[in-house]
Amino acid sequence: MSAAVDDNRLHGDPGIESFEPDAEPRVSITETPMQRDRARTIFEKSHPGRRAFVAPELDVDARPLDELLPERMRRSEPPRLPEIAEPEIVRHYNRLSKRNFDLDTGFYPLGSCTMKHNPKLHERVAALPGNARLHPLQDPERSQGALQLMYELQVALGEVAGLPHVSLHPSAGSHGELAGVLLTRAYHEDRGDQRTKVLTPDTAHGTNPATVTMAGYEVVKVGTNADGGVDVDDLRAKTDGQVACLMLTNPNTLGLFDRNIEEIASIVHDAGATLYYDGANLNAVMGISRPGDMGFDIVHYNLHKTFTQPHGGGGPGAGPIAVSDRIEPYLPRPQVVRVTSPTGRAHATSGRTTSGSPEANGGDQVIYHLDYDRPKSIGRLRGFQGNYGVFVRSYAYILSLGGDGLREASETAVLNANYLLARLKEKGVAEYLPVAYDRLCMHEFVLSGEAMKKDLGLRTLDLAKRLLDFGFHPPTVYFPLLVDEALLIEPTETETKETLDAFADVVAEILREAADDPEIARGAPYTTPVRRLDEAGAAKRPVIRQAL
Ligand SMILES: Cc1ncc(COP(=O)(O)O)c(C=O)c1O
Repeated sequence: MSAAVDDNRLHGDPGIESFEPDAEPRVSITETPMQRDRARTIFEKSHPGRRAFVAPELDVDARPLDELLPERMRRSEPPRLPEIAEPEIVRHYNRLSKRNFDLDTGFYPLGSCTMKHNPKLHERVAALPGNARLHPLQDPERSQGALQLMYELQVALGEVAGLPHVSLHPSAGSHGELAGVLLTRAYHEDRGDQRTKVLTPDTAHGTNPATVTMAGYEVVKVGTNADGGVDVDDLRAKTDGQVACLMLTNPNTLGLFDRNIEEIASIVHDAGATLYYDGANLNAVMGISRPGDMGFDIVHYNLHKTFTQPHGGGGPGAGPIAVSDRIEPYLPRPQVVRVTSPTGRAHATSGRTTSGSPEANGGDQVIYHLDYDRPKSIGRLRGFQGNYGVFVRSYAYILSLGGDGLREASETAVLNANYLLARLKEKGVAEYLPVAYDRLCMHEFVLSGEAMKKDLGLRTLDLAKRLLDFGFHPPTVYFPLLVDEALLIEPTETETKETLDAFADVVAEILREAADDPEIARGAPYTTPVRRLDEAGAAKRPVIRQAL
């Protein structure tokens, strides 16, 4: 075949995959310049003596180095930095930046990840010196603006979730999950109740059971009903006095809203357990329905998804949590609080203050404060107060959209998903990629590639890779696990009808192409900086070190 990949190259060499030199190409695509340009690191481009900067002549008297910095504080050898001229640095990093597929380049319907447009205004706000240069060790009295922003973000997030108390500590959705399960443990233990199990549906994101295990609980899986929701009978059968919590996302990872949520909440609460909301799918329901009103006790948000923040590649993110009154005493420490003080001095308020809705308080001065006096707290989850830049962007997003705007964003996300689903249900696609659970979806939906595999010999992975050649990032593949050959598609609210149509047309075109010659998709991608990789090998034997 033309586009075979030499797996061995991956193990010893992180460079570009190439075509087999003597194979006859089946498609008339040759190696692109980007593929030929092997990934040389900035260290490999280094030349002794090259510089991007020349220091000006000294205009003060030279002083011996020992007077300026004692020898014990100095390096014995200079650091091994690349020596390179400015234009080469600029080219190097520009070229690298173009090797990545990103949201500013094209449609990115990665289900469950909410890759929506991140307004550029947020970057300007986050880059303001008062935000970007604020030192995390700055005294609270001298960082009132930042604390006010964090406090007001807490209030806004609490409003979105319908729960009154928010902590911004966790740095990712999964970190928020861990916080939530630790809060659950603290809540039960404080009541002298030792519980051992946490329930997760079989549609759950992998981080849910992983979190449960990390927190020292046993994972108990709950089945899915024919409607794509929680199997309530199975839930009832598995909910006993040993269950600490049920972790749920609603809409779930099939993109379906669970209509039985009230019954689910009462089964869980009747057993004395807590109900945890995985908020990764909050983009579907902002301003429409609130987890707190559905009966959830603990919620995490993925600020980097729902509230816009460039993400991917592991961060930075933020996974704040909101909780009900009964969980509040255990929230991480410190908490950002607003206090009113007749003197205006931070130390004037030593008692614990909760983060409720701010009310102007006569002529008293309002100050924002870090409250450490939380005796039942689960403690610190990280250094400092969280990824502040993410807070700034999310705050800017919430203020610029307002309550109505957030609702409209969710409504449009749902509309776009249903439009794209309708387009993909058309003849030519639906025979090969039927929708897994056929009902009105929320912000995303799942197709099954089983028929495509059987009838065209194309796996979901092949379709995903071929989409890259048409300029689209693939959807999430092989998740959720209960759908064979799954494709989880989340178009988001920030895409135009033309883009959605173009995507649907390309899927149809790839299927037509595969009916003629499935080898083309099987060898894809052809146009990307690297060709089809041995992903298992890359995960098991990553090449992450470069000898200097
Ligand atoms: C449903 C769901 N839950 C939890 C998470 C974990 O969030 P994070 O990646 O921020 O840790 C994700 C991430 O993709 C998710 O899709």
